Amino acid sequence: MPDSYAGAAEHFDLITKPYWSAIGPALHAILRQAGDGPVVDIGTGTGLGLPTIGEALPAHEIIAIEPSPSLRISLFSRLADHPELAERVTVLPTGVQDAELPPRLGAVVGINMLGHLSPADRAALWSRIAASLAPGAPAVFTLQPPDRPASIPESPFGEAAVGRLRYSASGSAEPSGVDQVTWRVTYRVHDGTNLLSERTMQHQWWTMGEDQLDDELHHAGLRASRRDGLVVAHQQ
Ligand SMILES: C[S@@+](CC[C@H](N)C(=O)[O-])C[C@H]1O[C@@H](n2cnc3c(N)ncnc32)[C@H](O)[C@@H]1O
Repeated sequence: MPDSYAGAAEHFDLITKPYWSAIGPALHAILRQAGDGPVVDIGTGTGLGLPTIGEALPAHEIIAIEPSPSLRISLFSRLADHPELAERVTVLPTGVQDAELPPRLGAVVGINMLGHLSPADRAALWSRIAASLAPGAPAVFTLQPPDRPASIPESPFGEAAVGRLRYSASGSAEPSGVDQVTWRVTYRVHDGTNLLSERTMQHQWWTMGEDQLDDELHHAGLRASRRDGLVVAHQQ
């Protein structure tokens, strides 16, 4: 399967880390309600969320699902730097559709990844979560725009400096199906005003609005609430 994150992997951490600083405290607080059983981080990416998950739940096993080989390079570097996480994080190198999960889950995390799942894949995921989530335990997700096929003009995603160079990313989306857009995200390296390099990644993204997500979760036997921009599902 082509790795749509190959062009993004090198700078993914630099651009995405501020987002994790913003959602980390809320995610930490929500995860304190976890039940017995491993925590699953679906689409863990480079593992930016693992320190938060690990701190919130210091005694839980963590299962990190990540299908992109290029993002897994940063993920394993992070684990090598955090031996206390490496002891209890198991990395499954597949999509969530093919991941074998334990029958009981203490919590589920899926940050900025739902757009990778088709409606049928989402329905299958909600059923699995409803069948395995411990009573009172949270399943935490985020939704990303657009909520329906629509054009999004080129917008900045963030930037960071490392040494003398500056790294930036921006993206745009165009409708590409009944419930889909195609995102084009460009990663650039700048030396002052000189553009040193530019790489663009493209991926299909399934769109979904908040009401639709609530309906899907409800249909599967899960109840959705909101906290600080995070969607939190519990058993009904
Ligand atoms: C925008 S990134 C978010 C990564 C990470 N959750 C974060 O917020 O830093 C989306 C992630 O979903 C992963 N992904 C794509 N398809 C997936 C699938 N079918 N099952 C699980 N993860 C998937 C990608 O490889 C990528 O790591």
